[in-house]
Amino acid sequence: MAQRGRFITFEGGEGAGKSTQLRLLKTRLSEAGRDVRVTREPGGSPGAEDIRKLLVEGEPERWTALAETLLFLAARADHVARIIEPALAVGAWVLCDRFADSTVVYQGAGRGLGIERVRALQQQIGVLSPDLTFILDIDPRDGLMRTDKRGAAENRFEKFDAGFHGRLRDSFLQIAREEPDRCIVVDAARSEEVVASDIWSQLKARLA
Ligand code: TYD
Repeated sequence: MAQRGRFITFEGGEGAGKSTQLRLLKTRLSEAGRDVRVTREPGGSPGAEDIRKLLVEGEPERWTALAETLLFLAARADHVARIIEPALAVGAWVLCDRFADSTVVYQGAGRGLGIERVRALQQQIGVLSPDLTFILDIDPRDGLMRTDKRGAAENRFEKFDAGFHGRLRDSFLQIAREEPDRCIVVDAARSEEVVASDIWSQLKARLA
């Protein structure tokens, strides 16, 4: 039986550069001979990608905070069971763009459902814990400026106010303080290359 793979998540506010860093890390790990799978949330499996559309499109107030949380959890249940767990079982390293911390932060702190309430819901379902989480930290004003420049269609969450985005940053940093063995905060205001080598050296140090 293959040795179980590693599960690595990338978290952070809008425009922190998670997707780029995830791609760069995939290249480095593949070159090092790992079987690497890249995935994202919300989404990652056919059913979860359908749910994603309900979550990221439309007006900010489209869902109540609770309904929204349950949709994220439903998407995650499908994604974990159908994609992530099977990949880890055959020894692949899974890199995921956002995961459970985003729900605690966006729905718990951002939308105001309460961090403890979201954690309780997750625990009831049984949440998979990443081996390592990179939290890409950037001033939300700079992050949102980057997403504007990207010019891609705005998602529902980018439309919330500055207070919302400030709460996201504080609460990601709070999680990092609570779980220093799992979480690494990365200063994402630096250049892509510098951030990528920082992530690579931290990963080697932690998961040698
Ligand atoms: P996406 O366009 O993928 O944003 P990003 O590039 O910033 O990851 O849209 C996903 C949005 O969903 C993003 O704004 C964060 C939000 N989100 C939550 O609110 N809760 C969650 O549990 C997850 C996984 C994402």
